[in-house]
This record gives sequence, structure tokens and C-alpha cells, in this order.
Amino acid sequence: MESLRNPFWFGGDIGAEGLVDRDTETAQVERTIRDGSKLFLIGPRRFGKSSILRAASERLAAKGAIVIRVDADPISSLNELVENIVALSASHLRGKVHQVIDDLGKFFSRLRPEAKFDINEREWNVTLGVRTDDEGARGIQNLVDALNGLEKLALAQPVSKPVGLVIDEFQRVVELGGQRAEAQLRSAIQQHSRVGYVFAGSNTRLLTAMTMNHDRPFYRLGTVMTVGAVPRQDFAAFITKSLRKSGFRVADPTVVNSLLTLAEDVPYNVQSLANSCWNELLSTRGAGQPTLTADVLQKSLIRAVMELDPIYTGTWTKLTSIQQNALRAVIREKGKGMSSAPVVRTIGAASSTVHRSLEALRNQNILRDEPADGKIQLRFDDPFFAHWIRMRAMNLKIAGSL
Ligand SMILES: Nc1ncnc2c1ncn2[C@@H]1O[C@H](COP(=O)(O)OP(=O)(O)OP(=O)(O)O)[C@@H](O)[C@H]1O
Ligand SMILES: [Mg+2]
Repeated sequence: MESLRNPFWFGGDIGAEGLVDRDTETAQVERTIRDGSKLFLIGPRRFGKSSILRAASERLAAKGAIVIRVDADPISSLNELVENIVALSASHLRGKVHQVIDDLGKFFSRLRPEAKFDINEREWNVTLGVRTDDEGARGIQNLVDALNGLEKLALAQPVSKPVGLVIDEFQRVVELGGQRAEAQLRSAIQQHSRVGYVFAGSNTRLLTAMTMNHDRPFYRLGTVMTVGAVPRQDFAAFITKSLRKSGFRVADPTVVNSLLTLAEDVPYNVQSLANSCWNELLSTRGAGQPTLTADVLQKSLIRAVMELDPIYTGTWTKLTSIQQNALRAVIREKGKGMSSAPVVRTIGAASSTVHRSLEALRNQNILRDEPADGKIQLRFDDPFFAHWIRMRAMNLKIAGSL
């Protein structure tokens, strides 16, 4: 047995070496930064947006580019985001500490940054001299000043050195700054030609509206790229190869196909289920060569889903009974024709109530819309939650018949 380390990773961005497919997407991110243009990368949750950003940024950095990559999700204020951008900019400037501080002061003069280098952590910390408690307007102005500063920094680099700003979970910036932020950011960004901008996010409805509605400031500001599923063939080949490398047998390719179907091709869930299968196979070592079968797959699915039982129970018990019925109907109808009269009847409420319930489920990131064949299909954001609902219903039935 060559490798005893589980080769299936899930949770958090993965580097280029672990990425299956995504050549087009990473190339587009790289090109955007090299050309100083603008890109919106939009996709459902856990489809691998951050991994694409990471892989592209690492490749560009290896070729000498300056790429500032920030995640807006955990930030609590725009000033915090600005401080991160300036601190990361500092880490790319050459020279002794005092020189870097001088350069920062030059590029980001309007922000009056106070920078300190933490020797233990080997990172820069920045606080803004202009920081005020007035988050709204001041926060946006600081962000605009930071972007203008970054453009100055970029212009001071040789032409061969691309500079890029990548903001992941960009919708958070709009949440914090409001629509005012969009207009102000647009007027700054459209004047920049040296910095390449990549804005990514998973709140697909908000980001799509922001970039596709002609009355919104970000309309046609840049290219919009949607992140879809990883091609099945590629994922299947990766799973089969990784299992074989660990000394396991894949008797029948249809089992790998079933794995992808059960995970609804969501990369995170595919990796989680494959990880669970790997553990299951490892535990059967000793009695012949462990083989991935439909039975192993089923056990692994139950294990992967039930590990999340406390989380799913928490979510489920907070839902109204109409929302619970609506979720059951989405499973039964495979997310299609949800507003038709017969389906609404099975949910047991007036059509307007069902409509509101579905909207609430979308807003809680439990369901998402997926366009297919000119129609909108409702899907679970997390396909394992749908399995949990099915498993729970089956257990209740079994318990009830005893
Ligand atoms: N191209 C890929 N090849 C293999 N696994 C992938 C790929 N993309 C994503 N994954 C799996 O999905 C997980 C989540 O990826 P990532 O964090 O990049 O997604 P995301 O879209 O940014 O998610 P979130 O919406 O939670 O921010 C990874 O840890 C990995 O297991
Ligand atoms: Mg992400």
C-alpha cells in the first residue's frame, strides 16, 4: 500500500496540485490580473471558487506578480478590509522596514497608514490614521483611497510585474457599504488600468443582479464568469486513481458515478463522500483487497451525513412546518414545478405562503436556484441535508412500524 493518507480533502480552499479541472477558470483569473482588467467570478457555495482564486494567485505569485487576496466574509467593517489590503501590500514591497513604511505612506497617503512589522508572525499590521467610527461613508471612501493607492503602487512597478486585487465573498463589501459603495467603487476602478480586479462570491442572486442589471453601477464593469460543476469524467478519474493509489479496488465504474450523483456533483460533497469511502475501505483492510462497492458507498454516505446530524437537527428544528414540507416536496419533485397547483397542495398551504417559504429557504442558503433547460430548478445548497431528511423519514417509518 503506497499511501495511507486520505487523499480526499474538503473544507477550505485547496492549492493547484489538488484541484481537479478548472483550467479555464484559473487561466481567466490569471489573464485578468496580467491584463489589468476586471472579472466577477460567481458560483454556488462550495463549488470551488476560493480554490480557483488560490491556485491562480499562487501561479501568478510564482511568476513574480503581486497578488493581494482578501476574504471579505469574516470582516466586520470596511476599515478592516482596507487595513488588510494595505498590510498585504506592505508584505510585497521590497526593502528595509523603514523603507516599506515610507513607500506605504507615499502610495496610501490619504489613509495615513501606521504600519508595524511583527517579527514573530512575520507579517505587517496596519491601522489607519484616518479611521473613524463613522463606518458608512468614511469606510467606502477609505476603500476607494486604498484602491487608488494600489494603482499608484502598481504604476511604480516594472511593466512586467502584474498587480492584482482579489476579493473573495465580495457581496460582503456591498452588504457593509450599501449600494452607494457600488457607485463609488465603480468610478474609481474604471479609471485603473494597471491593477487587475477579481471579485468572487457565492451569493449568486445578489452578485448576478449586481453585475447583470443595467441600472446597477457594476453593470458591464467587467467579465462575468460562472463557476459550474467540475466535469464528471474528470472527477471520476481523480477518485478512481486516488483510491487505486491507496491500494483499493474500484470494481465497477458505475459506483463512482453513483458517488457523484449522491453528492450532486458539488465538489465539497464529492470530496467529503469520497473521504468517507476511503475511511470505510481502510477499516476493511486485512480480508482481501478492499473494494469500493455500492454497499461501501451506502455505508459511507450514512456516516458522512450522520456526522453532521447535530447541525442538520439544529437547522431542521428552526424551520416552520410549511418550510419542512416544502423541503420534502423539493426532494420528491427533484426541485421542478414547485409552484404548480398539485405540488403546492402537497405542501399544505396557500400558494403565496409556499412562495414565501421557498424564498425564506433561499435566503437561509438552504435552497438555491439552478437554471436548467430554460427553467429554474430548486436545489439543496448542501445535498447531504436532503439525504439527512430522507434518512430521518426512513428511520421514523421503521421506528413507527416496530
Ligand atoms: N476543482 C476541485 N477539485 C477537487 N475538489 C474541489 C475542487 N473545487 C472544490 N473542491 C472541494 O470543495 C471544497 C470547497 O472548495 P472552496 O472552498 O474552494 O469552495 P468555495 O466555492 O470557495 O466555497 P464557499 O462557498 O464555502 O466559500 C474544497 O475543500 C475541496 O474539497
Ligand atoms: Mg470560498
